[in-house]
Amino acid sequence: MKKNILSIDTSCDETSVAVTEGYQVLANVIASQVQLHKQYGGVFPTVAKQAHQQNLAPAIKATLKRAGKTWAEIDAIAVTQGPGLAPALEIGLKKAKALGEKYGKPVIPVNHIEGHILAVLARPKNKKDLEVKLPALAVVVSGGHTEFVLVKKLGEYQRLGMTVDDAAGECLDKVGRLLGLGYPAGPVVEKLAKQGDETSFPFPLPMTDVKNFNLSFSGLKTHSKRLIKELELDKKTTANFCASLQAGVLNHIVYKLEKLLADTEVKELWLGGGVAANVELRKKLRAVAKKHQLTFRVPYTKKLCGDNAAMIGLAAMNREAKGNLDRRPRWAIDQN
Ligand code: KG4
Ligand code: ZN
Repeated sequence: MKKNILSIDTSCDETSVAVTEGYQVLANVIASQVQLHKQYGGVFPTVAKQAHQQNLAPAIKATLKRAGKTWAEIDAIAVTQGPGLAPALEIGLKKAKALGEKYGKPVIPVNHIEGHILAVLARPKNKKDLEVKLPALAVVVSGGHTEFVLVKKLGEYQRLGMTVDDAAGECLDKVGRLLGLGYPAGPVVEKLAKQGDETSFPFPLPMTDVKNFNLSFSGLKTHSKRLIKELELDKKTTANFCASLQAGVLNHIVYKLEKLLADTEVKELWLGGGVAANVELRKKLRAVAKKHQLTFRVPYTKKLCGDNAAMIGLAAMNREAKGNLDRRPRWAIDQN
């Protein structure tokens, strides 16, 4: 019998609840707060906390209904313990604890990054599990994180590189804001980039003189700021800038990934996180995987790239219930 898990993610600005059965996603409900945070041009933690408080109970009810499950059929509750915004994490953890006590279910705390990594294993209802070959290299690219993680076994990870400042999605969002593209700007940058010429504004390749596999996106942001000040932002120029910025961000990821793969033996390349919805990023990583004869995997739907609770349910499969449910806002993937 496969385990039915009800999972909760309130790490940032989406209140999400899912029911998974093994690796199959039965329901994955996301109550987005994007409209609330638009006015601030980013996520405002206390506003996020309040919205999670309002949305969580109705989201749980709706998810169980959509999955066609009752509490009696749920084997465990999974919840994001970190990393994420402390006030936001707290809402999900408190709720999971209360529900665990009320219905007598074990509560499994999960690392949000592990969720993004394992989202590639998700399957639609009634589909067979994937047969993956390990070790794999997971590239997690989101609004809060940009990391290269070695997946030795499911549940056993080593972080090989990470951004030393902004995340890739954060860079797209911040520069997109300067271009007047609203929040979050990442998907708008991708759309406009399709009509632009990426050679219009050459971007420097960061960290080429650093031997490790860390990344840095703040230089691209500063470079953008300087250029944008001098520009007349008409439609054509904005499209050209978006194409150039996107190429700058993606080329940096690919450059460091190539260096890492020259140094590390893996069998598969996995991509996850909100920016994994970007078609150009997928194309570039697929090409890298092909060159290195690696199997390339991305989540089966874009909904599983951004923050969602189904990925938390999948990560809980390799984890145990714990009594300590204190929030861990800075929990690194390779820390126990
Ligand atoms: O994983 P996610 O939902 O939240 C975090 O954990 O951060 O990622 C959100 C990020 C935002 O920065 C957003 O602009 C970016 O993912 N994003 C994209 C695309 N869709 C979302 N960036 C580029 N192209 C996209 N299509
Ligand atoms: Zn995330």
